[in-house]
Amino acid sequence: MKRLGVNIDHVATLRNARGEKHPDPVYAAKFVNELGVDSITIHLREDRRHIRDLDAKKICSLKKLSTNLEISIKDEIVKNAIKIKPNFICIVPENRNEVTTEGGLDLKKNKDKLKSIIRIFKDKGIRTSLFINPSLKDISLSKNFGADCVEIHTGRFSNFIKNKKNFKNEFLRIKKCSKFASKIGIEVHAGHGLDYRSTKILSKIDEIVEFNIGHFIIGESIFFGLKKVIKNFKKILG
Ligand code: PXP
Repeated sequence: MKRLGVNIDHVATLRNARGEKHPDPVYAAKFVNELGVDSITIHLREDRRHIRDLDAKKICSLKKLSTNLEISIKDEIVKNAIKIKPNFICIVPENRNEVTTEGGLDLKKNKDKLKSIIRIFKDKGIRTSLFINPSLKDISLSKNFGADCVEIHTGRFSNFIKNKKNFKNEFLRIKKCSKFASKIGIEVHAGHGLDYRSTKILSKIDEIVEFNIGHFIIGESIFFGLKKVIKNFKKILG
């Protein structure tokens, strides 16, 4: 059985649209956890467009659930993440004008910064992951930087599926990268833009042990409810 991490950022997006308290992402974290998912993912963005510091603090202090905090390499965010004390950290690129995380990290450009951030969290016993494009070179660099895991950006793959385009090459690229990462001792996760179909196809890759899925789960739950949608994903990953 592969692990399912549920990203609840968009519960906060909905709350913020009204500037009030409902729907509460802290309640969502508890609710989703009760449904038997493996972790709750939240992204503390520099512009705080969805999850805010207090949400992150409250969610990461909940007992009996695993939290995966996505952060950029900005000093202010890293300092806050240390105070928030999640179980896991996933370092992601961030661009203020993007609608969502558009690609993987530029590992070469941010080498020193990434190495020092990974060290900070590893010294605290926090599992660290780097969000990367499916590239063998980036996997070697991730290992070299000391990351425990990589999360492969599946946005391109997901778009091929959604647009009914040929996804074979991208699938093979992700598969090759996953096998290589696993061989050199890096745990492999996958995320971004995933829905039922793309998750089902990628779940055939043995080396991918964790899927982090957000937007589709929250969107689909408007029609079918979190309970049903998460049950469907668990079945796919079972
Ligand atoms: N994994 C990472 C590292 C992400 O940055 C995101 C988006 O915040 C996701 C997974 C979830 O992507 P989506 O909301 O498209 O499922």
